[in-house]
Amino acid sequence: MHTIVLATQKGGSGKSTLAIGLALAAIQAGHTVRLIETDPQGTLSNWQSRRPYAEPIVEPIYSAGDIEPRLQLLDRSGVTPTIIDTAGGVSAATTAAIRHADLCLIPARPSVADIEATAPTLGLARVWNTPFAFVLNQTPIRGQRVGNAATVLSDEAALDAVVALPYMVMRNDHQDALGLGLAVIEYAPSSKSADEVRGLWQWVEARLNCGVTASEQPVVSELAASPDTVPTMFPHTSAEAVALVS
Ligand SMILES: Nc1ncnc2c1ncn2[C@@H]1O[C@H](COP(=O)(O)OP(=O)(O)OP(=O)(O)O)[C@@H](O)[C@H]1O
Ligand SMILES: [Mg+2]
Repeated sequence: MHTIVLATQKGGSGKSTLAIGLALAAIQAGHTVRLIETDPQGTLSNWQSRRPYAEPIVEPIYSAGDIEPRLQLLDRSGVTPTIIDTAGGVSAATTAAIRHADLCLIPARPSVADIEATAPTLGLARVWNTPFAFVLNQTPIRGQRVGNAATVLSDEAALDAVVALPYMVMRNDHQDALGLGLAVIEYAPSSKSADEVRGLWQWVEARLNCGVTASEQPVVSELAASPDTVPTMFPHTSAEAVALVS
C-alpha cells in the first residue's frame, strides 16, 4: 500500500479538494482507496455525508498515535493507496501523517504567501525523509505568475522531480462537485478539470512506482532558485527544519 499525505499549513490551498480528487481518480484507475481525515474541521466527513455513494470510506483519525497502526491494518486489508487529508497549521497528527507517508503532496496557490507557507511542511518531509512534491493549485489558466511560482519552488533542471504536473487550474467545477458530495471526475467527467485531476493521479502513481527516495531529490538549497525573492524559507538541514516547526 502507498500512503499519500496532503499537507501545508496554509488554509484553503486545496488539501481536501485534491485528496478527494485524487481518491476518485485512483478508484477510476482500479485502486481500492481509503481516505483518512486528520482535520477536525471535517471537510471530508461532511463531503462524505453529502455523497450519494458509500465509497470511498472516510476515516476520521485525530490522534497522532493512531495513524501508524491504522495504516498497517489498511495495508493488510488490501487497500492500495490511502490518502490523508490534514489540517492547516502544524500539528502532531500532520507530523505523524508526513512521517508515515510514501509521498507528501504540498499544495500551493501561486502566491508568495502560499509558497512561503510550504516551508514548515517541507521541513517535516525532510526530517522524516519522506519524498515530497509541490502541487500548484487554483492557478490562472495561463500566465507568468504560475511559471514564476514553479521556478521559486524548484530550479529548472529539477522541475519534473519536485513540482507535480499538471497544475490544477482554478475552475468552478471543483467547488460545485464538492458541494454535491462528488469529485470533479464524477461531476464533470469530460471537463478540463477532470482531465487535470486524472493527469495528477497518473503523475503521483508514476512517482510512487518509480521509488524515488527523499535523498535522491534535489537538495534544499537547489530549490531556492530565486534567493532574492525567497531568501531563507527552505531549511537546509534537519536542525533548521526542526527549528522552523517547533
Ligand atoms: N483548483 C481549484 N479550482 C477552484 N476552486 C478550488 C480549487 N481547489 C480548491 N478549490 C476551492 O478552494 C476552497 C479551499 O479548498 P480546500 O478546502 O480543499 O482547501 P484546504 O487546503 O483543504 O483548506 P483547509 O486548510 O481549511 O482545510 C474550496 O472552496 C475548494 O472548493
Ligand atoms: Mg481541508
